Amino acid sequence: MIKNPHEGKFIVFEGLDGSGKSTQAEYLVKKLKQEAAKVHKTFEPTQYLIGGLIRSFLGNDWKSSADCLQLLFAADRAYHLEKEILPALAKKLIVVSDRYFFSSFAYGALDCDLNWLIKINDNFLFPDLTIVLKSDPKICIERMAKERFSVELFEQVAKLEKVWQNYEKIIARFRIDNDIRVIDGDRPIQAIFEEVESILAKKNKDGWKS
Ligand code: TMP
Repeated sequence: MIKNPHEGKFIVFEGLDGSGKSTQAEYLVKKLKQEAAKVHKTFEPTQYLIGGLIRSFLGNDWKSSADCLQLLFAADRAYHLEKEILPALAKKLIVVSDRYFFSSFAYGALDCDLNWLIKINDNFLFPDLTIVLKSDPKICIERMAKERFSVELFEQVAKLEKVWQNYEKIIARFRIDNDIRVIDGDRPIQAIFEEVESILAKKNKDGWKS
């Protein structure tokens, strides 16, 4: 994977479906904007054509293999980097993404080979900071049941438990060279956000090199 060559910073939120990562990403973007920072909020799967194909796959509108789905995620990511993330980083913006390649590894490895998944993501930029929310799968499912109409492919407790095991595996693998923080996602939103803020404050003080 490639280190970010730009002055802009690339921050990614990761975690299980229903872990509260989207809320934390929103809170962070809002706070950075209040501080007059130049910030760009984004997410995967994207709102572009390939992201739409992925969402319709997850909603069971069409079927193919697990490998095909993961290749689509990688293609969506390539487009996302080219059209959105890299140009924003080159303009010195702080890019905050809700999901990125750790989602491919953690969810994709349920059905695909992890080393193959890493290989097809190998040309992509590694985030400057990845914040992973660790949340109880049962609480995640309860949150989603309240918030969402349709239950998508991955949204069952047993699966989420396996996904979390995969997250732990890849965090251990990439943590040596990269800044990856695992934080307790089962606390109130504000308490989690205070930890996010303190991570950012420390990085701004100590420098962003991992
Ligand atoms: P979300 O839009 O609610 O986050 O849902 C996207 C789903 O797609 C979620 O279950 C995680 C999964 N996913 C992957 O399997 N691989 C990926 O690379 C990404 C970005 C998401």
